[in-house]
Amino acid sequence: MSNGRSEPPLESCFAALARHGELPLTEWPDDQDPADFGLIVESGRVLPSVRHDPLSPAAIRAALSSRADAWLRRLDVFPVIGSTNQHLMDRAGQESVDGSVCMAEIQLHGRGRRGRGWVSPFGANLAISLGVAVDVPPARLGGAALVAGLAVLDAVETRGARGLCLKWPNDLLLGDAKVGGILIEVSQRRGVELVIGIGLNVTLPEAVKRRLPDNVGDLSRAGVVAARSEIAAAVVSSVIDFVGAFERSGFEAFRAAFDARHGYHGRTCDVLLADGPVTGTVVGVSAQGELTLRTAEGDRRFNAGDVSLRQKT
Ligand code: BTN
Repeated sequence: MSNGRSEPPLESCFAALARHGELPLTEWPDDQDPADFGLIVESGRVLPSVRHDPLSPAAIRAALSSRADAWLRRLDVFPVIGSTNQHLMDRAGQESVDGSVCMAEIQLHGRGRRGRGWVSPFGANLAISLGVAVDVPPARLGGAALVAGLAVLDAVETRGARGLCLKWPNDLLLGDAKVGGILIEVSQRRGVELVIGIGLNVTLPEAVKRRLPDNVGDLSRAGVVAARSEIAAAVVSSVIDFVGAFERSGFEAFRAAFDARHGYHGRTCDVLLADGPVTGTVVGVSAQGELTLRTAEGDRRFNAGDVSLRQKT
């Protein structure tokens, strides 16, 4: 993706694209390749490479559950942003972000777990961040990301997704292909406020897919045909419900559900650590959301912060 050098002119281009679904090529900056943003050029126009399905704040609000609607204080939908998580974390430094939802048609500097980036091409995916105040001590937040994963899985299944599973700690997979990921950041400026960032591939353009190093899939391949605003509203509603239950009951209440939807449960896997892999069988998650691996030397627990998991082939 672009490093966003020409962000001011790009900003108005993305705003026009979000509004009209196209832009005359003459108005696109010469020094930027539309393909870097998941766009195509056709008959002198710059277009999204997938069907124009813009995010609509009104449609999102209308499709929220009544609980999420009562919780929502502020909904921002930007044509372009650096990172929706960064936006809420910056705001959390100034004011409470509880009740805030931030989405964007494209992120130029999307953030993934473990310092990685996250690609969100224009108009094709969902980049959503929620600011949620929780009455949970930081030491007990270990399972929050797993709960958010279960919430997203539940939401997309209500919109017709089939064949998805979770990969600890919170990837959404279709077979081996990654369809979504979650990055939770914590602000402790005013109690504990979570910034729950969710990236979901909805209709990932083939051209973008080919440029990514990882095996990626999308919700359209999992059978979802709903509008992006409708999927976004389902995700926000579900996350609010699940995080509310997590706040009341802790991760213990979700442990069995996570194991049941964990695609790698019972499988032989490598946990990749800085000093090499540890091999074992996944036997479950702990009450704190750690992964338990049965190894030749006994059971070992791993924290989501510092490791990644690979299925042995
Ligand atoms: C992962 O590495 O799997 C987590 C990816 C999280 C991406 C989402 S997109 C919305 C929010 N804003 C970001 O910059 N990151 C998260």
